[in-house]
Amino acid sequence: MKKLSSTALRYESGQLFVLDQHLLPHQETWLECHTVEMMEAMIQALQIRGAPLIGIGAALLVAHLVEQQHSQKSLLESVARLRQARPTAVNLMYCMDRMAEALKEENWREAAIACAEGLFEQDQALCNAMASFGAALVENDDRLLTHCNAGSLATVGVGTAIGVITEACRIREGVSVWVDETRPLLQGGRLTAWEMEQAGVPYQIICDNMAASLMQAGKVDKIFVGSDRIAANGDFANKVGTYNLAVLAHFHDIPFYVVAPHTTVDVNCESGKFIPIEQRAKTEVTGVKGSFGEVCWSPHKAGAYNPAFDVTPAGLVCGWVLDSGIYDLADIKNDVLRSL
Ligand code: MRU
Repeated sequence: MKKLSSTALRYESGQLFVLDQHLLPHQETWLECHTVEMMEAMIQALQIRGAPLIGIGAALLVAHLVEQQHSQKSLLESVARLRQARPTAVNLMYCMDRMAEALKEENWREAAIACAEGLFEQDQALCNAMASFGAALVENDDRLLTHCNAGSLATVGVGTAIGVITEACRIREGVSVWVDETRPLLQGGRLTAWEMEQAGVPYQIICDNMAASLMQAGKVDKIFVGSDRIAANGDFANKVGTYNLAVLAHFHDIPFYVVAPHTTVDVNCESGKFIPIEQRAKTEVTGVKGSFGEVCWSPHKAGAYNPAFDVTPAGLVCGWVLDSGIYDLADIKNDVLRSL
């Protein structure tokens, strides 16, 4: 397989390396990944995360196993297992289904390797397209707000929502970003902040519950978020807390955009109520853990409810920034997502 390189994934000399996002931003540690069990554990621990990235990471691991001469039967079993590693991001299922199709071709070894390389290159191109469509929505001096991390750590390209933001900063003047810290796992305060530093974008971290009063004070001009799955009717799942922002944006009349590639669209899912939502450990809510250490700050026996994602109804979305263009609610009602 050819050499591939992105912010959080590298394939070189027949080895796959994953940047451990659990340890960012204070430690930049690359882990070698060479088994299905390792990839599955890394996905579940969010060492590799973000909807497009987990799909492409899993595809590269399968391609690596092809190079290691695994049998066609065992590769198809690996694909089926990885497909279930996390339930909400449909990009994982998209990538695993492409790999399964390739593995069923006559020349399946070559086909599977070409498929994994193609998925990597496709994601980079899709990110560039979204960045250029979305950046046109941003004006000079806009104060943007984003949630979670939808950047180069969540894709193999420039990102979805963050791709739009960094491109907007390149072509406009005076643009700045409010970065939601994104409890419980702090993808905003740790990862988006790290990306903003690398890109030289002016930003400030806010605790999630600051967003309402910032909007009330007229200090947020536009909101861009990513997505883990968009249903056929335009409802979409993203990191828990996204729905709060959409409701607030609606109340304060602030444009709220979702940015995602077509690989995040699931036309087999009629509406948001059918999107499976991952439930995670209560310890993520009752404490905090990372390169900075580990602490449990609640009573040790405290109960906690921890769905990783929420669903924003289409009616709260001002625009869907996809790799083929920007769509509004009228387009979505005309079933545009089924024609992509
Ligand atoms: O649990 P995570 O960190 O994988 O959640 C990621 C998100 O919710 C992102 O916003 C989403 O995957 C879009 S990434 C381009």
